[in-house]
Amino acid sequence: MWQGGEPALRRLVALAQLPGDRYVAAEKAVGCSRTVNEWKPWSFFAPAIPHPSSVRRPPSKEAIEAMLEAAAHAPDHGRLQPWRLILIEGDARRALGEILAESFARRNPVAGDEALAREREKALRAPLIVVVATRCDRAAKIPVVEQFIAAGCAAHALMLAAFAQGLGAFWRTGEAAYDEAVKAAFDIGSDDRIIGFIYVGIDTAGAPSRPRPVVHEFAQRWTGASPQQAIS
Ligand SMILES: Cc1cc2nc3c(=O)[nH]c(=O)nc-3n(C[C@H](O)[C@H](O)[C@H](O)COP(=O)(O)O)c2cc1C
Repeated sequence: MWQGGEPALRRLVALAQLPGDRYVAAEKAVGCSRTVNEWKPWSFFAPAIPHPSSVRRPPSKEAIEAMLEAAAHAPDHGRLQPWRLILIEGDARRALGEILAESFARRNPVAGDEALAREREKALRAPLIVVVATRCDRAAKIPVVEQFIAAGCAAHALMLAAFAQGLGAFWRTGEAAYDEAVKAAFDIGSDDRIIGFIYVGIDTAGAPSRPRPVVHEFAQRWTGASPQQAIS
């Protein structure tokens, strides 16, 4: 059940849009070490928002609604709403597994039963899979790259809302995301892309992770000449 209410959701969405200097300040405020994966965006909202679960758990109807609302707050130049979210749960995941296996078989014609079974199992990794696709308006004045960015923001907002409710979530693509036949199964045309399969309700304890980047490696300050390191 979403506990944070509208104000917390707004803060959550605002996080994804923080400009660099405020992001760095916010990181400092939460005492972020960034050397290991012990810091995550939801730290900003503690204690109202729990740490993501290390338990596999299906999202409730309310949790899904909160995730979709978060995605609806993604920044969107020109109000084009250039994204689509396709939710796959329950037995529909088995149908997705078949699509993934068929895609794998096309790319690997000599694939054996074991490899195909592994592909099918991928669709059962999580109780909910959200296919995030672009829905670009190529005739619009807004550059397509900006529309793709908006779709990425919608995907990340959805993930942050999942985290905020103690749900693990993981963003994957893989070769299947670029397979026209896979896209066609979801009525995604050749001009659009699958930008992510977001696995929601997973156990995040064993998920692949990486050390956090150190902010001074990417944060710069510009004062009129060449940009310099923003923080020491
Ligand atoms: C567009 C996009 C596609 C990704 N695809 C994959 C993928 O197919 N497989 C994977 O292991 N990680 C993928 N990742 C990275 C993971 O979502 C995750 O960020 C990474 O494993 C680091 O984990 P961490 O953010 O918890 O440190 C993708 C990320 C993005 C933004």
